Amino acid sequence: MEQNLLEIKNLSFAYEEKQVLKDIHFAVRRGERVAVMGSNGAGKSTFFLNLNGVLQADSGEIFLEGKKIGKKDFLELRKRVGFVFQDADSQMLASDVRAEISFGPMNLGLGRAEVKERVDEVIQYLSLSDLQEKAPHYLSGGEKKRVSIADILAMKPDVLIFDEPMAALDPVNARKVEEILKSLHKRGKTLIIATHDVDFAYRFADRIVVFCDGKLIADEIPRVIFGMEEIMQQAHLKKPAILEIWEALIAAGYVSGEGAFPLTQEEVVKKIRSVNQYNKY
Ligand SMILES: Nc1ncnc2c1ncn2[C@@H]1O[C@H](COP(=O)(O)OP(=O)(O)OP(=O)(O)O)[C@@H](O)[C@H]1O
Ligand SMILES: [Mg+2]
Repeated sequence: MEQNLLEIKNLSFAYEEKQVLKDIHFAVRRGERVAVMGSNGAGKSTFFLNLNGVLQADSGEIFLEGKKIGKKDFLELRKRVGFVFQDADSQMLASDVRAEISFGPMNLGLGRAEVKERVDEVIQYLSLSDLQEKAPHYLSGGEKKRVSIADILAMKPDVLIFDEPMAALDPVNARKVEEILKSLHKRGKTLIIATHDVDFAYRFADRIVVFCDGKLIADEIPRVIFGMEEIMQQAHLKKPAILEIWEALIAAGYVSGEGAFPLTQEEVVKKIRSVNQYNKY
């Protein structure tokens, strides 16, 4: 079986008195897309800060490519697991976009030529060339989000964590971020994404892990998660629209419940067309 890229065993974490994460087990393989869901305060962001070594757990173990992370390896963990914060402002430090994106690779101790090459590459990849001389502070929310993604990509981490990457974006900018995530997946990146958007998680993720009150209470493919009534209630989730429509069509006898369920509107139309091809009005 393929080795896990990143694995967590028995992880518990408390902020001073407050126990937040309780005995978490989690693993991700290279190239997977994992959505992390759960109500406000469930512990998702705290889990992410532990995953990339910004916070160090009170107990438990972290393995990267099967190798246990010891006390001296946390810096290495931070380099290999990139974290795009929910609030782009709290991530950005420099006076212009180009300097901002250079900051990470420079901190890795790379030479000037390598830093320039990486920065040029992400600026082109994320279409940021018009913004490179601007102050991050004055950018729009959508622009800031793309710059904060560029910051992390320039460090070439193995795993990319996104904390609610579409929160506070308009639908067009949210789509742009989704396209970036799709493209990163095509490039073989490993993606772990916290989201409250059930429709996005359903169409995008290979797997969904659900947090409730600091515990990881479910880890399944999306279709299974959205069939688990009790888990959905505990984690304040609702059914994705496409799944609801498809189940209504099955119940009404228009389509069979066999085979893979559609993930998008286009797939619903295609499947209905294929069963009704002799029946067109
Ligand atoms: N720095 C901190 N010090 C003390 N308690 C904290 C700190 N950060 C978070 N908490 C607490 O830890 C718990 C989990 O918070 P966390 O931010 O991890 O949840 P979340 O699942 O990311 O929520 P959301 O969906 O709202 O982003 C909450 O009760 C929160 O109040
Ligand atoms: Mg959070």
